[in-house]
Amino acid sequence: MESAVAGVVRSLGASLKNLGLYPTTHPLVRTPVEKCHAELAPFFTDRSELVLTVSDGTLVLEGVPIFQLTSSLELFMARLGTIGLPAVIFERGVSVEDIELFVRFLHETREQGVPIPEIKSRLARWGVTHIRVTATEDEENDDFTLAREIYGSALNVVVRALKDVRNGKTPDGAESDRVVREMSGMVSRNRDAMLALTLIKNFDEYTYNHSVNVSVLSLAVGETLGLSESERIGVGVAGLLHDVGKTQLALDLIRKPGTLTVDEFEEIKKHPEEGFAILGKMTHIQDSTRAVVREHHMRFDRTGYPRPDPEHRMNAHSYVIAVADCYDALTTMRSYQKARTPQQALEIMRKLAGKSLDPDLVELMERSLGVYPVGTMVRLNTMEVAVVTGTPDGGKGEPKVAILFDRSGNPLPAPQGVDLKEPDPSSGRPRRMILGTVNPLMHPPVSISGILQAVSF
Ligand SMILES: [Fe+2]
Ligand SMILES: [Fe+2]
Repeated sequence: MESAVAGVVRSLGASLKNLGLYPTTHPLVRTPVEKCHAELAPFFTDRSELVLTVSDGTLVLEGVPIFQLTSSLELFMARLGTIGLPAVIFERGVSVEDIELFVRFLHETREQGVPIPEIKSRLARWGVTHIRVTATEDEENDDFTLAREIYGSALNVVVRALKDVRNGKTPDGAESDRVVREMSGMVSRNRDAMLALTLIKNFDEYTYNHSVNVSVLSLAVGETLGLSESERIGVGVAGLLHDVGKTQLALDLIRKPGTLTVDEFEEIKKHPEEGFAILGKMTHIQDSTRAVVREHHMRFDRTGYPRPDPEHRMNAHSYVIAVADCYDALTTMRSYQKARTPQQALEIMRKLAGKSLDPDLVELMERSLGVYPVGTMVRLNTMEVAVVTGTPDGGKGEPKVAILFDRSGNPLPAPQGVDLKEPDPSSGRPRRMILGTVNPLMHPPVSISGILQAVSF
């Protein structure tokens, strides 16, 4: 056992070391990965996962410490330590591709002490599906960390589902159901923490983040609407999988910037029906969820696609997905479009009310996100620039904010949470007020992700 264990890790180390010297496709990088894959296989005959940890400076695989360190093993351990990865879990079904991507991740990640939820979401975006990472004991458990974990696993589920479809397999509906339940629980527990994550837009992997964001936003709307638990899950799953039919389209068509030709648009228009067919093969999918996926582009005025028959009765939840879909698309920067602020997005959506969107839902969305949605950058009467970190209780009153830039425009060393109700001792009136929103692009040093990590929810 011990030598088999050492072999697995040695192969990983060798590949990582050679990756520093040769390109990914070079046999000296590729062969050890294949060897590691072959060496892992026998372990999975009697267990479903294999845990690799670094404990007190020793590499431990399945409880077996590896003492015979070679230079490549040392490098491997050092990379895990620097990135801040205390435990790596290989799951049954791990592929050569998973291992290859994981080694590349270790090689290319240059930051130190990356938070675990961030590592999880990066691995998910890279398409690593059967290698998990976890923190050991003393993991922080504040709501934002928890929300990030949940968001990360939702991303993972989407990546896996789309990959399955591309490979001609039917995705596991139980996974979508489970992760949407987790997100729904988190939306009820701390809606701001969960909504804040929808602002971390990832330009490269638009479809994955977009799917999770639409699910989160639909869950938030669903909660405000007072939907039952099972209705909320149905809507959340529809959000998560609404664009699953796009996997049948050519990738360059999905990513194409600018206007589409008539033929290309005809192709795009097939994705709701394709999605409907895919969901029909999956387990744990409610009938209404399937219907919603089919109807998500039909539009409120029924002029969308696929064009509904005059007697067709649309599912009310299809309109929920439509507003969430629209909001997320507008607030994301794409190759052909700049990202709009949440306020600009809502303004555009007000114009679409009654046409493509349900007017009541546009209003409800505005109410549910607040006048200043979480993540909006605002200017205060003190000329300081702050970011909204929380909606006011009950939707009325002042939002929670954290100051990012002082009155001269210099960034503060760390975001500073302030209470907008705090009175000015001389006048008795609030010291700070929001004057209006600020375009975040005017402040390039701002990393929403960094801010959200630094402020508490
Ligand atoms: Fe769509
Ligand atoms: Fe979409």
